[in-house]
Amino acid sequence: MLKFRNTTALLIVLAAGTAAAETPVAPSDVAPAAGQPLGLGRPALPEEIAAWNLDVSPDGTGLPDGSGDVMTGEEIYLEQCAACHGDFAEGLDNWPALSGGEGTLDREDPEKTIGSYWPYLSTVWDYVHRSMPFGNAQILTPDDTYAITAYLLYSNGLVEDDFVLSNENFTEVQMPNADGFIEDDRAEIEYSAFSAEPCMENCKDNVEITMHASVLDVTPGGEGTEGGAEDAPADASLD
Ligand code: HEC
Repeated sequence: MLKFRNTTALLIVLAAGTAAAETPVAPSDVAPAAGQPLGLGRPALPEEIAAWNLDVSPDGTGLPDGSGDVMTGEEIYLEQCAACHGDFAEGLDNWPALSGGEGTLDREDPEKTIGSYWPYLSTVWDYVHRSMPFGNAQILTPDDTYAITAYLLYSNGLVEDDFVLSNENFTEVQMPNADGFIEDDRAEIEYSAFSAEPCMENCKDNVEITMHASVLDVTPGGEGTEGGAEDAPADASLD
């Protein structure tokens, strides 16, 4: 504690020393008003924006020119991906499966994979190109990514082994669960229901007690309560 106090004192002395050495600044220059620029940072370079701005949309917007076939994809996949996702994209240990799971979405424990769940192929291309192989992301060229995406379609039984995927036929591929999603209409449907002005007084003409919690048996029985306690067997014990 003593040490901490000394350090603080030293810092205050240093700060005072610096301030004294420079031209004093008006408080308004030190703390900019809300909404004013802070004078930090610099505009991002075009290359920096390009490194992030990789997204590919379901309609194919953002896809670079290129192509790749299933067999080439299998080679790259075995080298770069299989160690975690399994040779046939079936998943390994706790690494995610990228194939299988058809017909499991209505089960209690659905198996969500590219084939069973993902609605758009653009998400596969985008995700793989952007973030895989895990820990070594963005080493794949566009052609590598087309080839791997073709292989992932093949391993999900969605194309034959001679299939070639390119930016030209990309949007022709329909994913099995494309219709399994609905538009998010909460802004219209739910929000209005929950954001109506609540009634805070004189909300009911007539207020009367219709039932007691103890009779409904929602109150746990115990000493000093009525209802639930009476129903419990008097000699209840653990043995
Ligand atoms: C070192 C292990 C590892 C390697 C190698 C790897 N991945 Fe992954 N992959 C992961 C992990 C971990 C996740 C889950 C990441 C998360 O949820 O944030 C994942 C997620 C994915 C997903 C999304 C799965 C889903 O249903 O959410 C895809 C697709 C994928 N990887 C493809 C690939 C491809 C293609 C390669 C080869 C280019 C590859 N991965 C290499 C570990 C790996």
